[in-house]
Amino acid sequence: MQQTITVGLLGLGTVGSGVIEILRDHQERIQHKTGCAVTIKSALVSDLSKPRDLHGSETTLTDRAEDITRDPEIDVVVEVMGGIDHTLTILLEAIEHGKHIVTANKDLIAQHGAELYEASRKHQTDLYYEASVAGGIPIIRSIMDGLASDRISKMMGIVNGTTNYIMTKMAQEGVDFDSVLKEAQDLGFAEADPTADVDGLDAARKMSILATLGFSMPFQLEDVEVKGIRGISLEDIRYAEELGYRVKLIGVAEHDESGVSVSVEPSLLPIHHPLSSVNDEFNAVYVYGDAVGETMFYGPGAGKLPTATAVVSDLIAVLKNIRLGTTGTANVQPQFPNQLKAKNEKQTKKYIRLQVVDEPGVLNDITHIFSEYGVSFDQVIQRSTEQPDSRELMLMTHLVSDEDIEKAKQDLEQLPSVQAINCIYRVEGGN
Ligand SMILES: NC(=O)c1ccc[n+]([C@@H]2O[C@H](COP(=O)([O-])OP(=O)(O)OC[C@H]3O[C@@H](n4cnc5c(N)ncnc54)[C@H](OP(=O)(O)O)[C@@H]3O)[C@@H](O)[C@H]2O)c1
Repeated sequence: MQQTITVGLLGLGTVGSGVIEILRDHQERIQHKTGCAVTIKSALVSDLSKPRDLHGSETTLTDRAEDITRDPEIDVVVEVMGGIDHTLTILLEAIEHGKHIVTANKDLIAQHGAELYEASRKHQTDLYYEASVAGGIPIIRSIMDGLASDRISKMMGIVNGTTNYIMTKMAQEGVDFDSVLKEAQDLGFAEADPTADVDGLDAARKMSILATLGFSMPFQLEDVEVKGIRGISLEDIRYAEELGYRVKLIGVAEHDESGVSVSVEPSLLPIHHPLSSVNDEFNAVYVYGDAVGETMFYGPGAGKLPTATAVVSDLIAVLKNIRLGTTGTANVQPQFPNQLKAKNEKQTKKYIRLQVVDEPGVLNDITHIFSEYGVSFDQVIQRSTEQPDSRELMLMTHLVSDEDIEKAKQDLEQLPSVQAINCIYRVEGGN
């Protein structure tokens, strides 16, 4: 007789309703792939009186988490409700009751992933979270399975759709940050409180998850150096374009002999780089493996059905494991201790734009400061400005540590001929 696997859903909002829809539309395909039928027995919501479309399923609604976590008939708990501490408590209870877990919750995994791995390992249950990074793009599966035989040395990602949408509009339509943010909020692309997106925290959580999996070391949000996009001006974007670069919010996780660095910051990318043409709300992750070389994964980073597809694919993995009598938790346990680099060990190229007094010797004073910290330049470009007594100076450095660039910046701020340090951005993807 065919086995039926019973699922409890925590949350029935955008992603949860997509999960129900996909399971309804693909029930036969799932049975063919796994040899199991799937039924969603119950779903947790906060407001039982809200009207819902259950797509013909006989799912019972509840507002008591224990109706799901303690129900002996439920095999798998799919968490698509969001939240951190309360949700962690619910999932730990579900694991203690032997439930396998599928979650789309990046905030929870980034903050409490280690605790959840440990509980799953102890109770020999599955823990899958494909949808937590880059929505519909199967990036976690690609890192864990597709590239399992390789050593990943670098991952670069556009992993926040809201900020990519904002930056694309700024670049293509010349609209300033505040106006595009408002438009994105009106269209539902950006939250009413956009902090987690525009300040880079959402992308940082996703990069900490990717770094943990890609390098098999435990990373937390605090390990990620984060700079958001609030300070980006149209001038920054225009000048960068003139030099052959696009400005994007890029997450970079890099592993070399001296350790690992993980950051999210506005960065200049050469226009011909594949990540430069990732526009609007789309996401992409560029992965370098020692053996495979360069690969790129591109697609929708959010949305009801793309995200639900990733959730249901995880569910299919759990069903296969149940049939095989195994769990998928062992291969996500970090193998090595965290080898985070210190600030003076992380070396990147920088783009610096300054406004300076237009008089002889200024360039000399500035290059003198940089040379004291061992910073040399790949390009130096000077431009006149609308003000007759000042000039714009654009400097592209060779590799330099964050610590040295910070010290040089502090010294530049003391120089009377420097009127403004307009921006300092990382430069990625060059030769
Ligand atoms: N939306 C996306 O495109 C996307 C993409 C990737 C990952 N994710 C992640 O997926 C998760 C869900 O996102 P979503 O957009 O589907 O959220 P959503 O539309 O706000 O839905 C949340 C659901 O959870 C229920 N819920 C929330 N808190 C609850 C509580 N304390 N007790 C009981 N029920 C509760 C809500 O109940 P009511 O219906 O009664 O309000 C609602 O059904 C989040 O972790 C999010 O980060 C979302």
